Amino acid sequence: MRTNKTRDIGSLLSYFPKSIHNTQPQNVMQNRTVIDRRHLWNIFEKTFYKIHGKKLKQNPDAINNLKVLFYYFLQEDEFFKCENLRNDISKPSFQKGLLIIGGFGLGKTDYFKVFEIIFQRINHLRFKYYTSKKLVTDYEKCQTPFDKDSLFRDAERKLMFIDDINSEREASNYGKVDVIEEILYRRYDNRLKTYTTCNYTTRDNCAKQTLEDLGKRYGGRIYDRFFEMFNIIEFKGTSFR
Ligand SMILES: Nc1ncnc2c1ncn2[C@@H]1O[C@H](COP(=O)(O)OP(=O)(O)O)[C@@H](O)[C@H]1O
Ligand SMILES: [Mg+2]
Repeated sequence: MRTNKTRDIGSLLSYFPKSIHNTQPQNVMQNRTVIDRRHLWNIFEKTFYKIHGKKLKQNPDAINNLKVLFYYFLQEDEFFKCENLRNDISKPSFQKGLLIIGGFGLGKTDYFKVFEIIFQRINHLRFKYYTSKKLVTDYEKCQTPFDKDSLFRDAERKLMFIDDINSEREASNYGKVDVIEEILYRRYDNRLKTYTTCNYTTRDNCAKQTLEDLGKRYGGRIYDRFFEMFNIIEFKGTSFR
């Protein structure tokens, strides 16, 4: 059941130390835009309203789901203590990307649309938003081997977000290809950070089983690499839909 108890996430975040990069070594600060947590929160709330046309609801589950993302992007050590971080499945690290597993309607898609816009002007955080389904249809539109190659090369951009993996079908274009598997594999090979989301594959919302099902879908070579590539995050709560 959805809880009516709302807390203001902005004021919650303000309890934490204000400046985020004070504890970082000097060389980490070089060439980096310093973002204040409170400032990021304000922009997030405003941008959410602007692009989704409604106020961001702030119940405890939503706060926890967002908190882990904020701490990750800001590279704050509180990230490692977040409830939603499955450190029992994959050893957490800021060098790894994010695999967000959760139920439907929890904001996985819409939060990343907001982050994509906010981070456009921040070099080290800028990423491009893709959906797994669109990557498949784009692949199917490719007319020549050169087009296919250029699609995969485009997917070797520095930071990439792929929404809803495991929801796409296999691509069919003179032979079957699992486009997402190929992209993930290339990104692993090139040590590129990836953010991705997927829905639970089980009725009892089991993250470990979901990962195993992803392994069945994309094959053993990718399954083993999930743990090296991703921090595993679980989104909790009831659907906002
Ligand atoms: N914290 C929130 N406050 C208000 N609306 C939200 C919030 N989180 C998600 N929503 C809305 O709920 C719906 C489902 O979100 P979505 O991002 O599509 O979920 P998911 O990708 O996890 O299935 C969308 O209309 C979204 O804007
Ligand atoms: Mg979604």
